[in-house]
Amino acid sequence: MSARIIDGKAEAVRLRARVAEDVAALKASHGVTPGLAVVLVGDDPASQIYVRNKATQTREAGMESFEYRLPASLSERALLDVIEELNGREDVNGILVQLPLPPQISADNVINAIRPDKDVDGLHPTNAGLLAVGKPGLVPCTPLGCVILAKTVHETLKGLEVVVVGRSSLVGRPAAQLLISESCTVTVAHSQTRDLPAVCRRADLLLVAVGRPLMVKGDWIKPGATVIDVGINRVAKDGGGTRLVGDVDFDEAVQVAGAITPVPGGVGPMTIACLLANTVTSTKLKLGLSHA
Ligand SMILES: NC(=O)c1ccc[n+]([C@@H]2O[C@H](COP(=O)([O-])OP(=O)(O)OC[C@H]3O[C@@H](n4cnc5c(N)ncnc54)[C@H](OP(=O)(O)O)[C@@H]3O)[C@@H](O)[C@H]2O)c1
Repeated sequence: MSARIIDGKAEAVRLRARVAEDVAALKASHGVTPGLAVVLVGDDPASQIYVRNKATQTREAGMESFEYRLPASLSERALLDVIEELNGREDVNGILVQLPLPPQISADNVINAIRPDKDVDGLHPTNAGLLAVGKPGLVPCTPLGCVILAKTVHETLKGLEVVVVGRSSLVGRPAAQLLISESCTVTVAHSQTRDLPAVCRRADLLLVAVGRPLMVKGDWIKPGATVIDVGINRVAKDGGGTRLVGDVDFDEAVQVAGAITPVPGGVGPMTIACLLANTVTSTKLKLGLSHA
């Protein structure tokens, strides 16, 4: 048996098209163009690529993109001043600070300074708290993308036995909270979990966000299960060069799973699309419109 491959690229294209329709409708009905500010501190090459892609896709969806490229030597105070200015701007509906930040700046202090209703990364404690109590708020983009992809396989997630491997505040934890809200039965596994393969084999839906290349093997997967692989790991390629792999051993897993996300081309493309969707959500909330 070979699993269905979940096409994250195609799903991201569909989501971005829906975002563009929403943006056009907001312009027509309220004369409002959603605006996303992306702040990059330093010159990390991977972050520069992410920020460029975010800006391009923001504009393609018909939104305003405001980019801030600041020097690696920037003080925390100076960055907090930028956040304060963006918090007050009427034309900025979403603020994203690209992580990681240079060592002199506390990511927690910066995240806490972003107005929760403009926190399109969903990392502010207010949004994390709303998610934890099952109330509407802004949800972290990668877990949101994972749930959307899972729903391309399962009409409803209700009642599914889910195992989330990883408990980071960026991915594992919010993914588990979202899946609880979808009425799944959720187990969260981590580095201290005993007999991880046996825990994973319980899952109808296995979501892996660890950062360890090819860790999850084929015999960790229940036959027919859906596997969402969040991991992005660069490893050496036979014959030189490097390639990207997930946290799941795709070649083994594809023989056992019912559906699986590839790396690249699975969860990755959904993250920016969900960021754009969150910016529309935050604009609608400001206008007092439902974002359902
Ligand atoms: N596709 C995307 O857009 C996207 C977005 C974000 C992240 N990612 C990728 O997703 C992966 C995870 O990212 P992250 O930010 O969540 O990483 P992270 O903050 O390093 O968290 C990793 C989690 O994995 C757990 N873990 C580590 N080793 C383990 C083991 N041997 N067995 C079981 N659990 C283990 C850790 O457990 P403890 O808590 O016990 O230490 C921790 O909870 C990375 O590859 C990252 O590049 C992709």
